[in-house]
Amino acid sequence: MDKIVIRGGHSLKGAVKISGSKNSALPILAATLLTRERCVIQRVPDLSDVHYMLQILAHLGADVERASGIVTVQAEKVDSVAPYEIVRKMRASVCALGPLLGREKEATVSLPGGCVIGDRPIDLHLRGFQALGAAVRVHGGNVKVFAPSLHGAIISLKGKFGTTVLGTDNIMMAAVLAEGTTVIEDAACEPEVVDLANFLNKMGAKIEGAGTSRIVIEGVKELHGAEHEVIPDRIEAGTFLIAGAIAGREVIVNRVRADHLTSVTDALQSCGFRVSGTNGSLTIRPNGTSKSLNLKTQAYPGFPTDMQAQMCALLSTVSGESTVTENIFPQRFMHVSELKRMGAAIELDGATARIRGVDNLSGAPVMASDLRASAALVLAGLLADGTTEINRVYHIDRGYEMIDEKLGELGAEIERVKV
Ligand code: EPU
Repeated sequence: MDKIVIRGGHSLKGAVKISGSKNSALPILAATLLTRERCVIQRVPDLSDVHYMLQILAHLGADVERASGIVTVQAEKVDSVAPYEIVRKMRASVCALGPLLGREKEATVSLPGGCVIGDRPIDLHLRGFQALGAAVRVHGGNVKVFAPSLHGAIISLKGKFGTTVLGTDNIMMAAVLAEGTTVIEDAACEPEVVDLANFLNKMGAKIEGAGTSRIVIEGVKELHGAEHEVIPDRIEAGTFLIAGAIAGREVIVNRVRADHLTSVTDALQSCGFRVSGTNGSLTIRPNGTSKSLNLKTQAYPGFPTDMQAQMCALLSTVSGESTVTENIFPQRFMHVSELKRMGAAIELDGATARIRGVDNLSGAPVMASDLRASAALVLAGLLADGTTEINRVYHIDRGYEMIDEKLGELGAEIERVKV
């Protein structure tokens, strides 16, 4: 099990290249199951979650090849059962359900359990499959969905905490091969949903409205192979912008879609950082004074829950009192106790973190608990006095490609140690 060791206090300067988006790549790879023909996906990030998805595809019978960011998948035949041993490693395995149901009219996937960021039900996915005509059985820890045929339907994906990203993906992937027209109301508008819809359309699907809350899908008989390049990872980009804010003199984040990051750059600007650039490259610089902020997470285009932990790290170092309210996963605050061990002054009040900026954070041994919480600890470690040791870094390897090398190139003193 590796750990990351950071000696804080080195200022960051230079440019970093952002990788392809994890949360786009995962459902796009699952979507390759919808055709017998060959699909080529470019800019697939080298992450453990991506490896798990490729293992699932291979287990289901697909030929999978990977060479420097390009993944080729050909699923001439597919099995419809994804076993627990592979699926349990990653919650996003659930997005195999939609394409398998669409193509084979049945799918069995192990049910995702809870996870440290909170309860993660899939009731909205299942409600959508049922509306398309599928029956749902939950047995022995697996969920099986099956249907003699799928038909178009009007489906609302509105849940207690708003809509669902992977639920929208799953219903789109099942509905592309259903008979007739499906309308998804209250659909997720995230750029990753648009990326998947663009890929499906290249495969011959007829999807309109992706990126709005109403997606219309006209079912087709079959899909064909296609090539696609995954969009840049907006959460990785946002994390590097915060690295620039927390410890940077001038950090340039290249290969970004600035339009996907507006809520993050707005928040950083309200906090007093100068962010400039175009679609393709963003630069962040301190401007001498930084200000506290009141922030809440929301579905896109609101401030992303996947940037909440990193923002808590930054606001811990900004003078004044800030608040961060988590509206998507109200229990997603595992980073708070670890940040407090580094000297942050954060009190939790339900789903709101009240953060009083402190003059100094101090390095400490800390424990990564989930992907974004680990990123917050790395960010805090960049500024903290002394040495921060982040244990259980397999969490960070799920979603950040070579974060230690990329930060090292910007001037951080950071190393990965095998233990
Ligand atoms: N929800 C339900 N019922 C459902 C599905 C979701 O109540 O059937 C609730 C969830 O419990 C949560 C909210 O709806 O409160 C939103 O969950 P959503 O389904 O949108 O999350 P997801 O699709 O499972 C994706 C990302 C997450 C990201 C969320 C929210 C992937 C692989 N995962 O998860 O990314 O936090 O959307 O934007 O795309 C991460 O990358 O660190 C990560 C956790």
